[in-house]
Amino acid sequence: MWGWLALAPMVATACQGASPEQDDKLVFFNWWTSPGELAALNKLVAVFTARYPDVTIENAVVTGGPATDLRVRLYDQGLKIGHPPDSYQLHIGAETHADLGYLQPIDDLYQANGWGDVFPSVVLQHTKFAGSYYTVPINVHRSNVLWYRKDSMAMINRQPPTTWDQFFEIADQLKAAGQEVFVYNPALDASDPNNRVSWTTHHMFESILLSELGGDGWMGLFDRSRSWDSPEVVAALEKLHRLIGYAKPVPDGPGYDLTAMTTSDRPAAMALMGDWAEGDLTALGFKAESDFGWAPAPGTGDYFLFLSDSFPLPKGAPHERNARRWLEVVGSKEAQDAFNPAKGSIPARLDADLTNYDAYHRSAINDFASKRLIPSLAHGLAAAPDFKNQYYQIVGKFRDDGDTLAAAAALEAACQASCD
Ligand code: GAL
Repeated sequence: MWGWLALAPMVATACQGASPEQDDKLVFFNWWTSPGELAALNKLVAVFTARYPDVTIENAVVTGGPATDLRVRLYDQGLKIGHPPDSYQLHIGAETHADLGYLQPIDDLYQANGWGDVFPSVVLQHTKFAGSYYTVPINVHRSNVLWYRKDSMAMINRQPPTTWDQFFEIADQLKAAGQEVFVYNPALDASDPNNRVSWTTHHMFESILLSELGGDGWMGLFDRSRSWDSPEVVAALEKLHRLIGYAKPVPDGPGYDLTAMTTSDRPAAMALMGDWAEGDLTALGFKAESDFGWAPAPGTGDYFLFLSDSFPLPKGAPHERNARRWLEVVGSKEAQDAFNPAKGSIPARLDADLTNYDAYHRSAINDFASKRLIPSLAHGLAAAPDFKNQYYQIVGKFRDDGDTLAAAAALEAACQASCD
């Protein structure tokens, strides 16, 4: 099972044999632990170590997806007490804005590398605050994607659903054919006892919310022109509850695991997951187009619900020279064209060499250029961590108790208090 990597730094001496200088280290945090994420991270690190073979890299690996335990280790035991790492995985947008007090502006790196000309403005606007840049984006992920096994859909002679009504029709047809419908890992995120249920619940909910509200309605939730206890949010909660009823039963484990879809033992036909799933399905031996297909999450075909992983430069980074080197690698064409094909994401840079990318990535690059871009809540772009974490907890409680009206009212109260 993925994500059960020990909560311990992995130390890799980049240059075997040589005894690196004590201070010639790079220490960074990230939460990439699934097969595709690790494959991508290794490619990113390989670009860095090829350039700086004498630097010892310490990668603090945490379990699961965007579990709040990363925040405990990184903030309570690090940034908040003046012991920052050299860098850490950070979402652009509201999540970066919330961390500005811990970060150094890096306009000099943007200037020296010409990044203002290679990242799209929609990304740049979420890395720049009060006139300065504070983080370097490595990718763009799409949150609202439905993944499906080609053989399962062929068995019932259906195309992927474009609406939730079609989804539930297909689900019932699969059940009637003795098939498993849907991957969902309800397990408590064992790495974070405060996280009532796995983050995948909150991740899926944002696509259902978008399908009910549409782009304007979604944006209205955060500019406060729409309330969270509106009929559309209630309808989305009801769909989430119904959806979870179709999940393939899986043993308790980490919050995210696609082997229930790639297994030969009654595989699940579909998953509602961000396009890191493309990297994971590929790392698990599935082939894009022949084994698995993809479609926008039902009801969200007009939208690209986006997020981006990035790396900042903390104040007081213990190895600042190597931290700056790391950021230059993260922003480089070479690293982005090595990392993203394995990650399932598309490069943040606009000058990618498309020969590195498969059919999914090329479709995502086209959609990123043509669909309406909507900021992801579950992955740190649309609203501050305070609200995002309350969203996680409230949707988690709803997963357990099914109390739709209480959940909608709690979301509205939470957003009123902490969405700004
Ligand atoms: C997101 C992150 C992705 C991937 C995903 C699942 O928040 O941006 O890179 O890690 O979680 O773990």
